[in-house]
Amino acid sequence: MRRSYLISALLLVGLASGQPGATYITPELQRLIQAGGQNYANVLLKQAPDQALCSIHRNRLPPEVLGPFIEEQRRLIKYPEGGRLMGDWKRGEAIYNTLARGNCFSCHAGSPLNIGGNVGPSLEKYGQRGTSEAVQRYTYEVIYNPWAYFPCTVMYRFGHGGLLKPEEIADVVAYLLDPSSDFNTKPALRR
Ligand code: HEC
Repeated sequence: MRRSYLISALLLVGLASGQPGATYITPELQRLIQAGGQNYANVLLKQAPDQALCSIHRNRLPPEVLGPFIEEQRRLIKYPEGGRLMGDWKRGEAIYNTLARGNCFSCHAGSPLNIGGNVGPSLEKYGQRGTSEAVQRYTYEVIYNPWAYFPCTVMYRFGHGGLLKPEEIADVVAYLLDPSSDFNTKPALRR
């Protein structure tokens, strides 16, 4: 237990300094990682610091790590130029329902075009949350970097991972929130 806290503390020094790559690996941390065997060390030393934290803690971050981790993940979020968080729902529809783009339907129920998966919560009639600034921002940020709200979740970090551009994420936000979007006016497809 003490060892894993020590690893967390050392990793956090790296996270807090905002430096990428191997700079967060102190000699002491390196020694601890090597103690897990060469294969374990090879994997962990190549990971980004935040992914390494998730791995070391089996995706359940202890309380003292959680706050700084979420702050760091928030800082990674970038917004579309001009700041519009709701774009074109038609373009968002294509991204949401295409396997090689957003692939959202594979994990979430709610789309009128695809039977949804159940890895994530159902997003059926997501637009009932309204289109307030807070709802738009939350939805945008969850898609850009879900780790800012659900640390270590399996949902892809679409913006941070470079899978979708900020403007494309805004299009998906519109698909989920726009009252005139098919996502909110048509019934979700079911088995
Ligand atoms: C690999 C599976 C997976 C994919 C792909 C995925 N998600 Fe998620 N999503 C999740 C999981 C799991 C959660 C719940 C977070 C948790 O508890 O880990 C979630 C949470 C969310 C939430 C928050 C739900 C709420 O009720 O507040 C939104 C919004 C969301 N996802 C939208 C999307 C969109 C839009 C896409 C596609 C661009 C997408 N997701 C792709 C798994 C996925």
